[in-house]
Amino acid sequence: MLLDDNIIGYIFTHTIDKEVQILNFAIDTPYQHKGYGEEFFSYFLDQFDEDISIILEVRKSNFSAINLYLKFGFSELGIREKYYSDGEDALVMKRKLLAHGLV
Ligand SMILES: CC(C)(COP(=O)(O)OP(=O)(O)OC[C@H]1O[C@@H](n2cnc3c(N)ncnc32)[C@H](O)[C@@H]1OP(=O)(O)O)[C@@H](O)C(=O)NCCC(=O)NCCS
Repeated sequence: MLLDDNIIGYIFTHTIDKEVQILNFAIDTPYQHKGYGEEFFSYFLDQFDEDISIILEVRKSNFSAINLYLKFGFSELGIREKYYSDGEDALVMKRKLLAHGLV
């Protein structure tokens, strides 16, 4: 994401067929909690055609990110235990876009 020619955020993805996996999503610390994450994520989601599944892992304690994903129609698919190197579990979240609405 660019703001006045500075990169203030990024999203890394891995795509296989009709599934996009979000590997990393971040907004630079001084710019967090100002609405840029939501704006960027909305722009990102708009890039995809209907019928594309989007999946991600997020730390169970990362309420800011989880709230943002919930706002965009993601739901919890399951838990990957001890997914992170410090032993924290990950929530697996998924959004599927279809012509008739969210699934
Ligand atoms: C998660 C992340 C990408 C969200 O980006 P962000 O720019 O902070 O997100 P937003 O500002 O759009 O929204 C975050 C919060 O700020 C609030 N907010 C938005 N605009 C605001 C404003 N003008 N004033 C006060 N709060 C505001 C939102 O309501 C939201 O609150 P909530 O978490 O209680 O729902 C960012 O915090 C980040 O990079 N975190 C570290 C990396 C990370 O955890 N990435 C996710 C990995 S899965």
